[in-house]
Amino acid sequence: MKDGMYTIGEFASLLGVSKAVIYKWEKEGKINKAKRVKRGKTMYRYYTAEDIRDLRVDMNIQTPLTKRRKQLFLNFKGGTGKSVISANYGYRLAQHGFKILMVDLDPQGHLTKCLGCNPEDFSKTLYDVIINKVPIQSVIISSKLTTLDIIPANLGLSPIELSLTSLHAREFKLKRVLTDIEDSYDIIVLDAPPNIGLLNLNAILSVNDLLVPVLADFLSYDGLKILFETLRDIEDEFEYVLDNIYIFLNRYNESMNISTRSRDAIRKNYADFVCDTMIRQNTTLSDATALGMSIFEYAPNSRAAIDINKLVNEILDI
Ligand SMILES: Nc1ncnc2c1ncn2[C@@H]1O[C@H](COP(=O)(O)OP(=O)(O)O)[C@@H](O)[C@H]1O
Ligand SMILES: [Mg+2]
Repeated sequence: MKDGMYTIGEFASLLGVSKAVIYKWEKEGKINKAKRVKRGKTMYRYYTAEDIRDLRVDMNIQTPLTKRRKQLFLNFKGGTGKSVISANYGYRLAQHGFKILMVDLDPQGHLTKCLGCNPEDFSKTLYDVIINKVPIQSVIISSKLTTLDIIPANLGLSPIELSLTSLHAREFKLKRVLTDIEDSYDIIVLDAPPNIGLLNLNAILSVNDLLVPVLADFLSYDGLKILFETLRDIEDEFEYVLDNIYIFLNRYNESMNISTRSRDAIRKNYADFVCDTMIRQNTTLSDATALGMSIFEYAPNSRAAIDINKLVNEILDI
């Protein structure tokens, strides 16, 4: 079936129940009946990601994720799509009914904007939580999706690099404050700032997985080398091992020679880490962002929506 539309069988397996249970619930009026679409002479019945969310919330169905996860979108280079892709990735997961917290770690507040919020509206940030010991709950805001919460960022977060420097156990501050709330979420998605600083080190040491968007050009390829060397140093120094590193190509353009050549080079040299999914170049993504909307609201049939949906499915195996 088309992306974003689920057959009754797919719907059932996403919810972790059998098809028979779905039919029973439909009959008993516990859930909405599947929508219908006609293709040629055949009528198909389907559900959507929003139906999955509503059902999980209404019927209090536990998610089938085997393990709660914290995932950081990281690349020390700017402009690779960390903010835009992470916003849409988290939004999609929330549409699927997973309870999601999105954390903006960049004082520029790009993730905050991508999620439709104005960074300047918030008087407190993670700075107040980490440095002034304000409870983390007080900087969490709700979104229009019941399953999506956000910790926004703005310039108030920028002095954190300096303030962290003089603290004891300064590398583990973020990890510690997240422990207060992490049991309330299935997945915490963090968007990193584009530098190698103490806040990013805190972020890396807080998470299970890294998601690394790379552009299909040769500068980005060099950037990956620096990233992996840095990660190796961090793992040695802090005796810490990440569960997974997922590299994915972003702004991919098949008609460009440079795109296909760097794709091949990355696949060859980072074979253990590269996702099959590539996010194609698609201006609809910037259009949606400019309006503070997710691609799944703005253009659910666009290439960007299809690709990001695929990335979600590949990484979380759903
Ligand atoms: N697949 C894509 N197609 C088109 N534009 C994209 C794509 N991915 C990202 N962009 C655009 O690239 C710019 C940089 O993305 P951003 O997420 O801000 O990068 P980062 O957070 O890594 O600095 C933004 O203007 C964004 O809209
Ligand atoms: Mg960014």
